[in-house]
Amino acid sequence: MRAAVVTVSDRSSRGERPDVSGPVLRALLEAAGAEVAEATIVPDDPAVIAQALIRLADEVRCELILTTGGTGLSPRDTTPEATAQVIDKNVPGMEEAIRQESLKQTPFAMLSRGVAGVRGRTLILNFPGSPKAVKECFAVVAPVLSHAVKLLRDENPYAMHQSTSVTGDK
Ligand code: MTE
Repeated sequence: MRAAVVTVSDRSSRGERPDVSGPVLRALLEAAGAEVAEATIVPDDPAVIAQALIRLADEVRCELILTTGGTGLSPRDTTPEATAQVIDKNVPGMEEAIRQESLKQTPFAMLSRGVAGVRGRTLILNFPGSPKAVKECFAVVAPVLSHAVKLLRDENPYAMHQSTSVTGDK
């Protein structure tokens, strides 16, 4: 799976704060067997965020883009709006699962407005900004990522099971 990480942070994009969550996501993706084609840092500017997502989906052809940061309530938090602008379909189940599981970790999870959606053949997921949050959110979606990407490729995600099934049933 070809993936990308987008860290959304004014301060990290200006070099005033080290980006910790981006490298954490890269490590998690690589440990899960994904190829991280690019990890980039952008400011909390919806036009710049949207442009990065479009480029990574349409030109770099990433199958999965994970963003971190900018999902909260402060005036500059616009990652969900930028993501909503560029996706063709929402994946509400992933948004719900992330928030539901995150609420078991902290009540502040209800303050994250993260979006999950599909642009073309690319799955885009918004995670909150903290390293703790990205680890928790990645753990929620990790079990379904490979299946989701196979569906986006229009592959049969059950093919392996079918070859071992006498009846062909899944
Ligand atoms: N979700 C998980 N799983 N773990 C967390 O620690 N932090 C919350 C929330 N979601 C958190 C979480 C907090 S404190 C905030 S303010 C919101 O995400 C928004 O974070 P962001 O503005 O960095 O995107």
